[in-house]
Amino acid sequence: MALEVLFATTNINKIREAEAVLKEFGVRVKPIAVTKIEIQHNSLEEIARFAAIQVYTKVRTPVAVEDSGLFIEKLNGFPGPYSSYVYKTIGLKGILKLLEDYKDWESRKATFIAVIAYALSENNVVVFKGVTEGHISFEIRGGGGFGYDPIFIPQGSIRTFAEMSIEEKSFYSHRGKAFRAFGEWLIKNSDILSKAKEKSL
Ligand code: IMP
Repeated sequence: MALEVLFATTNINKIREAEAVLKEFGVRVKPIAVTKIEIQHNSLEEIARFAAIQVYTKVRTPVAVEDSGLFIEKLNGFPGPYSSYVYKTIGLKGILKLLEDYKDWESRKATFIAVIAYALSENNVVVFKGVTEGHISFEIRGGGGFGYDPIFIPQGSIRTFAEMSIEEKSFYSHRGKAFRAFGEWLIKNSDILSKAKEKSL
């Protein structure tokens, strides 16, 4: 039987990216919309862990959540765990404005981090992290993707995430890396997974 993972998110872009990577491992993604409380914390890992346990207590079957953030070096890691709020408030233009005095490429360094927390039970959560280094572009570019994609250029490319296909973005992206690690874990631990699923029935 094909492996399937429950992924608690309503973000269609995250679902598509998860599917693009996990299909390489023969794993199906089953999205589920559950309201989750995002705690305020400096660590994405803590935010994701908390959310995964909280969602598990509602669905009572193994479930994955993912939390990500953009960390800009010259802004001391801002917006980091507050990426979502900052995107909604000052947006891409606001970020470019904050960096307007940083005219050389090296001073526009940024890192995208994604953390997947997979709750097998209330007290058994496995975590997978993906990190992608890159730069903030000088202008908004590209019509694909979501969030900060039009201003993030990963190391090794000259294009923003928003100028890439899902497959190409996933090759470079923090989420792609985290889901590949998750996919490898799922393949190796399919027995643990079936036991956890049986228990939850
Ligand atoms: P969250 O993981 O849904 O909390 O996302 C945090 C913020 O980072 C949101 O505003 C997203 O738009 C943004 N974000 C997360 N992942 C990506 C990505 O892959 N590309 C661009 N923006 C992202």
